[in-house]
Amino acid sequence: MYTSLRSKFALLLTSCVAAVSVGAKIIFAGVNESGGEFGSGNLPGQFLVDYDFINQATVDTFVDQEQINLFRVAFLMERMCPLATGLGSTFNETYFSEFEDAVNYITVTKGAYAILDPHNYMRYNDPSAQPNSGSIIGDSSDPNAATTEQFGAFWTELANRFVDNEKVIFGINNEPHDMDTQLIVTNNQAAIDGIRSTGAEQLIIAPGNGFTGGHSWTQTTGSAGNAPSSDFMANLSDPLNNLAIDIHEYLDVDFSGSHDECAQPGPTNLAALTSWLEENNLKAMVTEFGGGNNQNCFDLINEMLQYLADNDVYIGWSAWAAGPFWGTFSSCCGTDTGSLEPGNTNDLGGPNAFETVWPNAMKPNIPVADLKRSGVSSLS
Ligand SMILES: *[C@@H]1O[C@H](CO)[C@@H](O)[C@H](O)[C@H]1NC(C)=O
Ligand SMILES: *[C@@H]1O[C@H](CO)[C@@H](O)[C@H](O)[C@H]1NC(C)=O
Ligand SMILES: *[C@@H]1O[C@H](CO)[C@@H](O)[C@H](O)[C@H]1NC(C)=O
Repeated sequence: MYTSLRSKFALLLTSCVAAVSVGAKIIFAGVNESGGEFGSGNLPGQFLVDYDFINQATVDTFVDQEQINLFRVAFLMERMCPLATGLGSTFNETYFSEFEDAVNYITVTKGAYAILDPHNYMRYNDPSAQPNSGSIIGDSSDPNAATTEQFGAFWTELANRFVDNEKVIFGINNEPHDMDTQLIVTNNQAAIDGIRSTGAEQLIIAPGNGFTGGHSWTQTTGSAGNAPSSDFMANLSDPLNNLAIDIHEYLDVDFSGSHDECAQPGPTNLAALTSWLEENNLKAMVTEFGGGNNQNCFDLINEMLQYLADNDVYIGWSAWAAGPFWGTFSSCCGTDTGSLEPGNTNDLGGPNAFETVWPNAMKPNIPVADLKRSGVSSLS
């Protein structure tokens, strides 16, 4: 009863707001730049051979032509913090400067926002078979595991290096899964505390359990039945209140992004998350989603992005994925879809997702005039 009254009120509110400013809520829209985490079986790996961060021409195309304002730039924690010295404040300066060059190109040269994305599933020390290899950060029963304190030190160092760059967003970690949900919150809090201890004021985005899936936010996840993210994630505390929840939501049958057919309706699957965000006065960004090159996926992606725009708790999205090393591979959604990297074909020699999925399903949902173009990354 309370719920239905509540949603009626929310609907009313939505329509009032819509009357004055149409679709002004999504302030970040963009793509993932995947590549810095490539070749994870090869440490430290060689720049431009095993891994690379961005093609500058791609960033130019997305900013100048597509008018997006957000890139999510993946890197590997084992490359940033070599195993010899462990997770913490000692960085590999070569890898850092390669990453920094990519981030600065996006943020300083092109003026867009960049999510710093340690692509590590909240694990460290063996990324060779991600997402499953490596020790869970803070797992005191695993003698090889990095500690929560080390994770905090890593984030303190990284934030300190970007403290004056208002265009960065701190993405605490990519897709934690199959671990104690309370430990995710403890690790997230250590990262938040470390970041804020440097004086950094930029937006932080925090992931939950179950690969941070939106559809399972209020459900147990993993084979051990770990507690729902919703049980604990509202306990995060940011002294600056510049914190959002980081959500991933693929639209194929098992939410994996590995099938070309879309079968999962975003609005229905995100409804429980949306209510939880409203109840806890929190915002979220969907930093990974995608669908294959077919009309049904175009329809379901459009429907989900429209849903995000219609619900005040969502402030942005980034699609999976562009990147310099995809070639004809599909970053998402079936073997023949191809990636979002402009200039590549798919594996059949036809147009890739940048020419199919993007213009049909993503581009129409970019609120170009409303996107944030200046100032410290934030919730509004
Ligand atoms: C640091 O990274 C560079 C570039 O990947 C690599 O060549 C070098 O071996 C790394 N150094 C250490 C100590 O891991
Ligand atoms: C979360 O916060 C609530 C309210 O402050 C508290 O009652 C609860 O014990 C906390 N839960 C955890 C797991 O810390
Ligand atoms: C972004 O890239 C990461 C790293 O590969 C991937 O796990 C994630 O699913 C991607 N997100 C999106 C929205 O594409």
